[in-house]
Amino acid sequence: MLEAADKIDIPLDRLTPTMEDDAEELEPPQEARYEEEPFFDGDEFQEFGSRVQDNEDLEVEAEVFDVATLKALYKLVHDGAIDAVGGAVSTGKEANVFEALCDGDDVALKIYRVETSSFDDMRYYFEGDPRFEGIGGSKLDVVQAWVTKEASNLRRAADAGVRVPTPIAHERNVLAMEFVGSAGSPAPRLEEVELENPGTAFDVVSTYLERLYSSGLVHGDLSEYNVLVDDGDLVVIDVGQAVTLHHPNSDDLLRQDCRNVARYFSKQGVDADVETLYTRVTSS
Ligand SMILES: Nc1ncnc2c1ncn2[C@@H]1O[C@H](COP(=O)(O)OP(=O)(O)OP(=O)(O)O)[C@@H](O)[C@H]1O
Ligand SMILES: [Mg+2]
Repeated sequence: MLEAADKIDIPLDRLTPTMEDDAEELEPPQEARYEEEPFFDGDEFQEFGSRVQDNEDLEVEAEVFDVATLKALYKLVHDGAIDAVGGAVSTGKEANVFEALCDGDDVALKIYRVETSSFDDMRYYFEGDPRFEGIGGSKLDVVQAWVTKEASNLRRAADAGVRVPTPIAHERNVLAMEFVGSAGSPAPRLEEVELENPGTAFDVVSTYLERLYSSGLVHGDLSEYNVLVDDGDLVVIDVGQAVTLHHPNSDDLLRQDCRNVARYFSKQGVDADVETLYTRVTSS
């Protein structure tokens, strides 16, 4: 038994934020069998699938729209998350982003390619995350969990006061979220614009880093490529890889984010020091 003199003083500020809400936030991913659902109509699905596949804007992306992905999109239509799939916005390493419509408003659809995903790399970002203990071993399990994680991270970031696209719905390998931009054109990335007041922008991004950290998250890929500039608002995107503070390398990932941010803003003439930024974030 410990004597009074042996008691170890653990400062409160060493405590990581609690993750009490995590368990109820997420359900284990399962491959849905839409054909068994009452809403599923085989003829209607065939017609929907042909309409998406015959869309000329999407022709080059044909391999993204396999039958299982078309079924996930069909489910999103039935759930009222989207009405129609529009043109391609971006082709990334793991995912393609498309414009879609819902009640006349633009929606962004991020569709992960299951077969070509580098799921071993993806697995790394689930480590220590209490929300994803025991995810299955298949590519699909990993991609489904990733999409669930991206939606959950978007919600958590928004709740913490970070401007991100609002998540709308997710299904299998597809995430539907607020479209950031106007008239079907995505807002430019920070790297594509010239800022009038980079000092203020640095302060905003630093505050976002602080708020994310206070909500128990580290972005893990924050840079001028994952911040959109929407009518004067800075919008953080691409939060699928964001980890909780329980991740064994969350500190390294945070340092990397701070380095990217400080490097970019230094180039813009801002007095942006990595260590000062790191200290500001971690003592928030
Ligand atoms: N919600 C959105 N609204 C408008 N445009 C978006 C939205 N999300 C993403 N985009 C556009 O799609 C591009 C790619 O998105 P994102 O960064 O999320 O994926 P990614 O980098 O391709 O992912 P990966 O790391 O797997 O390659 C963005 O740079 C942006 O132009
Ligand atoms: Mg990106």
